[in-house]
Amino acid sequence: MPGLTGPSDYSQEPPRHPFLKINSKQPFNAEPPRSALVSSYVTPVDFFYKRNHGPIPVVDDIERYSVSISGLIDNPIELFMKDIWKLPKYVVTATLQCAGNRRTAMSNVKKVRGVGWDVSAIGNAVWGGAKLADVLELVGISNFTGTTNSGGKHVEFISIDKCKEENGGPYKASIPLSQATNPEADVLLAYDMNGEPLNRDHGYPLRVVVPGVIGARSVKWLDSINIIAEECQGFFMQKDYKMFAPSVNWDNINWSTRKPQMDFPVQVKVSGYAASGGGRGIERIDVSVDGGKTWVETFRHQKTGVPYIADDMSSDKWAWVLFEVIVDVSRSTEIVAKAVDSAANVQPENVLEIWNLRGILNTSWHRVKVQVGHSNM
Ligand code: MTE
Repeated sequence: MPGLTGPSDYSQEPPRHPFLKINSKQPFNAEPPRSALVSSYVTPVDFFYKRNHGPIPVVDDIERYSVSISGLIDNPIELFMKDIWKLPKYVVTATLQCAGNRRTAMSNVKKVRGVGWDVSAIGNAVWGGAKLADVLELVGISNFTGTTNSGGKHVEFISIDKCKEENGGPYKASIPLSQATNPEADVLLAYDMNGEPLNRDHGYPLRVVVPGVIGARSVKWLDSINIIAEECQGFFMQKDYKMFAPSVNWDNINWSTRKPQMDFPVQVKVSGYAASGGGRGIERIDVSVDGGKTWVETFRHQKTGVPYIADDMSSDKWAWVLFEVIVDVSRSTEIVAKAVDSAANVQPENVLEIWNLRGILNTSWHRVKVQVGHSNM
């Protein structure tokens, strides 16, 4: 009996919290309600989003479970859990986010493919495990190695689950060897999540956690590690999780023109207030992260967590309306907010148009410059 197997059907799925919003049942993809997400710094495991591409693997015998390390190295090895537990344990608090988070909002503008997600395909956990850099030292690859003597430049992680995108084969992904062997990159072979052994949904008994990188590279239910010359050629590296210009469609797409997405961009929470005179409600508040070229609609509220409805009996008509939205900011830019009231009054773009010598009623778009620093990681 092998240590870990990947079922071909969904008859052995684990129990899940009923609060989760299910975006796809088989494979199981679900996210917590928005309120659960921001109510604690560390996301409880039950409320951590679950992103799967096949049935959840089953551990038959933990003592027999092992990970093989082979490829472009001199001495391939087989590591059992007891070997991994013997290595120094590191505890890293890291946010994992699916690259498809907030896909539904993008699809509302123009239809896109993939499982729909609201804003909660993201979570923050305390991961415990061995550092990949330490594990690779066991096969003779020292810290800060970019290329092995036999030309290995990437570390491929292969799972055991059966994914239809891989024609029934396992999920896999790779990261550059230079990142894998950098102890400061904190890449883990994790066996704990929030102080407990990983649960089945999140990769029991062992998963990769690549901090700061889209969740797709944090392979769950690890079966083998392969040192390879080119990045992993699997579906999820080459035919998915790549970003294309808006002009690319399903007829003219050329997957090889783009590199696999790795780091996720900076995201900021933008919040503020809007108010209109005469008891008029606030119909919409939009935010732009490109100086006003494109806009996203924000979530409006007066009472915390309760969606605001303009001019409704339940709304305080004389009070301001608060708003918030999470946006991606990948470079230094200007964030702009603009409100529309229930009489369709829109804030003017420039202060110059409404300039007056007493300096009153500056209702022009509110602009905030943001600086995004550069980092190599
Ligand atoms: N690993 C395996 N083996 N199979 C998968 O389907 N999904 C990936 C990644 N690792 C996946 C996987 C994706 S796309 C994401 S976003 C994260 O796992 C989700 O991790 P979580 O379910 O623990 O939140």
